[in-house]
Amino acid sequence: MGNSKFLPYGRQSIDECDLKAVADTLTSGWLTTGPKVSEFEQAIAKLSKVAHGVAVNSGTAALHAAMYAFGLKEGDEVIVPPMTFAASANCVAYMGATPIFADVDPKTLLIDPEKVEQLITPKTRGIIAVDYAGQPCDYDALRVIADKHGLFLASDACHSIGGDLNGQMVGSLADISLYSFHPVKHMTTGEGGMAVTDNPEYDKRMRIFRNHGITADFRQRDGWFYEMEELGFNYRLTDFQCALGLSQLEKLEKWIERRREIASLYNHEFAEIEELAPLEIRPGANHAYHLYVVKLKGSDCAPKRKALFDYLREKGLGVQVHYIPVHLHPYYKKKFGTYKGMCPVAEEAYNGLISLPMFPAMEDSDVTVVLSLIKDALQRG
Ligand SMILES: Cc1ncc(COP(=O)(O)O)c(C=O)c1O
Repeated sequence: MGNSKFLPYGRQSIDECDLKAVADTLTSGWLTTGPKVSEFEQAIAKLSKVAHGVAVNSGTAALHAAMYAFGLKEGDEVIVPPMTFAASANCVAYMGATPIFADVDPKTLLIDPEKVEQLITPKTRGIIAVDYAGQPCDYDALRVIADKHGLFLASDACHSIGGDLNGQMVGSLADISLYSFHPVKHMTTGEGGMAVTDNPEYDKRMRIFRNHGITADFRQRDGWFYEMEELGFNYRLTDFQCALGLSQLEKLEKWIERRREIASLYNHEFAEIEELAPLEIRPGANHAYHLYVVKLKGSDCAPKRKALFDYLREKGLGVQVHYIPVHLHPYYKKKFGTYKGMCPVAEEAYNGLISLPMFPAMEDSDVTVVLSLIKDALQRG
């Protein structure tokens, strides 16, 4: 290898077993809502150490289904962090409710429980915590706040599947947790997602919601009869995608282990590089490293970050920036009156962030290439 190989910030791994699993299902007679869906739901629920999993066709659909299960309505407020993909807040807007942005901790970029508490009003219905980059949030503190104020606690775990907090699995840390199986995530079904919960009522509501609001799935229907009781969507995931998910899941543990090894190689080097700092890991958090994010030190880093980003892209590294704070998107400004200065920690961090290549098929020599290109770029200023 050398730096002629393009290294994206993330990439799926598909092997022969995955291909066979999909092909076998395609010829099995079931294309959608068949046995692989429930098998996949049970396997992901088991991994998460909860009772139920509801497979849907994206992480966004999983977030939407969760907001529906919580009974969110117009006029309600839900507290979300700005340092995330827009879908984490969009799901609140889908229900006609209002996302309220709580700033993040500067060391981890995870939602700051103190800021959450300051934003609670009589309209607040819940909190969506986002395990940014793959590190579980401070769910102990968030649970205390949620219980004190009678709020739901959701976990956007699209980055953190397979992680844990003091031995408690991601997926079991909130009332409902949401996963994405987009190709750039830890494991993929092409597009896909899942909501996991211990609560049978939420499970039931999400199942109805993903199938148009129809109260029974078609295999359970008595003859031709069914009823649509609520307004739902078609958010179903196909059987062959679930077969791919099951095959990918077998490799998840090994892949996360490799992600952690790559992170420790990066961490070791960044300890010596003055200008850059990796994000901090909270005590007890077992990071799943969907992303490896570093931050340029100091303030007003935007020009320096742009130069570093352009240099690394030019050299064949598919680096990225995660994320433009959600409250700065034009839709949010227009619709909800959000503004620059609203979440200063996230805004300041955004100017210095860069996501480096991180995926299990990376070799140690790839990491060496990334590190030497970064050192070159910093030396050039
Ligand atoms: C934090 C977070 N939440 C939600 C989503 C939405 O997932 P999907 O792309 O599967 O709809 C993503 C995906 O990029 C994400 O990173």
